[in-house]
Amino acid sequence: MAALQQIIAGNWKMNLTLSQGREFLDKLEPGLKNKKPARKVILAPNFTLLATLFPRCAACGVELAAQNCAAEESGAFTGETSVAMLKAAGAAYVLVGHSERRQLFAESDQLLAQKLHAVVAGGLTPILCVGETLEQRRQGAAVEVVLRQLSDSLMDFSGARLIVAYEPVWAIGTGETATPEDARLMHAEIRRFLQGRFAWGQDVPILYGGSAKPGNAAELLAQPEVDGLLVGGAALNPDSFLEIIEV
Ligand code: PGA
Repeated sequence: MAALQQIIAGNWKMNLTLSQGREFLDKLEPGLKNKKPARKVILAPNFTLLATLFPRCAACGVELAAQNCAAEESGAFTGETSVAMLKAAGAAYVLVGHSERRQLFAESDQLLAQKLHAVVAGGLTPILCVGETLEQRRQGAAVEVVLRQLSDSLMDFSGARLIVAYEPVWAIGTGETATPEDARLMHAEIRRFLQGRFAWGQDVPILYGGSAKPGNAAELLAQPEVDGLLVGGAALNPDSFLEIIEV
């Protein structure tokens, strides 16, 4: 079976203004040209940067993701951003259910199912994030929690394209990384679920996220079923992001 093309995705979260994003690309672009990486590179900047950064990203082969979207198509939802707006701004992907959205903004799997529907209806590809908390892992419930997040949010999923990101909450922004063994075991469970759920489940890239950095990227990417990385902190610096792309 052919391996999936690996994906390195950078999630800038609520960091980097437009001018900082431009400076990041000033440094990223030459590195990408020299290395011609056989990997897909995705950046998820703040909404306000998407449209402006899009032409430069497209020119150097970097695709854009939005960090969130509205579940609704349009209408009186002050402060929300629709999938159509994100698409028009150049996004090809949307992060759905990042743990910060789940924890800080109380996004439920039911809401995420609606957002997934909106992303599919709008013609973009969702990057669905799942992951357990430290307490859930300590209780031995990590696999159960992740599989429940997947089955609840993907209940009515009718799309033909999907990316899943396994991001253990205890590893996000903490410097703690799941061991390659933790990642391997969970990714195998996720793969089994996806194969059972979709005829094309084998083709869904499964990314690992949570304190991924140049020092651990190679080992994580070498694990079976780890098809790429979703990088937060280390994606804010073009040098460390390039190092990860090149490992
Ligand atoms: P981190 O964030 O790499 O800073 O842990 C990853 C993420 O939240 O996507």
